[in-house]
Amino acid sequence: MTTPDPINAKAWSPSLYGTHGHFVHSKQHTSAIIELLDPQPTDRIFDLGCGDGKLTKRLVTDYNVRSVVGVDASAPMIEAAQVECKEQVESGRIIFEVLDGFDVETSKWVGEGFDKVFSNAALHWMKRDPVAVIRGAHKVLKSGGSFIAEFGGHGNIACVHAALIAALKRRNVPNAENLMLFFPTTNHYAKLLDPYFTPTHLEIIPRPTLLPTDLNGWLSSFATHFLEAVPESDRENVRSEVIEECQPVLCDDEGRWWLDYVRIRVIAIKK
Ligand SMILES: C[S@@+](CC[C@H](N)C(=O)[O-])C[C@H]1O[C@@H](n2cnc3c(N)ncnc32)[C@H](O)[C@@H]1O
Repeated sequence: MTTPDPINAKAWSPSLYGTHGHFVHSKQHTSAIIELLDPQPTDRIFDLGCGDGKLTKRLVTDYNVRSVVGVDASAPMIEAAQVECKEQVESGRIIFEVLDGFDVETSKWVGEGFDKVFSNAALHWMKRDPVAVIRGAHKVLKSGGSFIAEFGGHGNIACVHAALIAALKRRNVPNAENLMLFFPTTNHYAKLLDPYFTPTHLEIIPRPTLLPTDLNGWLSSFATHFLEAVPESDRENVRSEVIEECQPVLCDDEGRWWLDYVRIRVIAIKK
């Protein structure tokens, strides 16, 4: 019997993401990775972990790429993306599909010869087997195609993670630190890429990020797998402890929460 993966992408909710997480695909926070993507009108792009489709849509409407296939493991996110991009879906410029990142390597998209695989803020969720995800990207690309991604890098949101892990350890949750997502160093990720891709750009960028709501809202959207490790009756206590511990460090004098986001950005060329 396989152990269920606590990092369950199927749990992603478009409404919580829309309220607490929309900064993820804001122009401010995606301009750097879009610049690295360097979208071209001839590009056929595979958007891995496309979420609610807002960023996928911009690739077509703002950058006029030829077409995009957006995949995500969460059916509700893909439904939201279909609605968001109704016009582009109807015209055939965008196709959305529920597909787990771990299954791309055996999907119908293998051999399709995409020009670019793109991924924003999603690869850190694909922790169980990051190499399977890299193999998937490799297999859907054309020869010499590029893999362009931004996701959480080493040290990402360290303060909140330390408080969450400590709260779970106080409750004797075993291996609480394993609930952290995949936040590699550049060295670590370069080693994983090596058999399949040649990195031409690999950097770690600290990016303090102002939350649109507060830490409680962020926990609801991004930390459910930590909260679900304790009985439901204790989850409010965990939230309160984490908020109390992080407040002096992450909340400014105007009551606004800044999280210590750290990003890893990569461009890698298919070998
Ligand atoms: C923070 S959202 C980012 C969405 C989008 N790329 C954006 O920039 O707005 C992360 C997305 O990764 C998806 N995800 C998490 N694990 C996944 C997996 N194993 N396979 C595919 N998608 C996954 C989630 O469902 C969610 O939509």
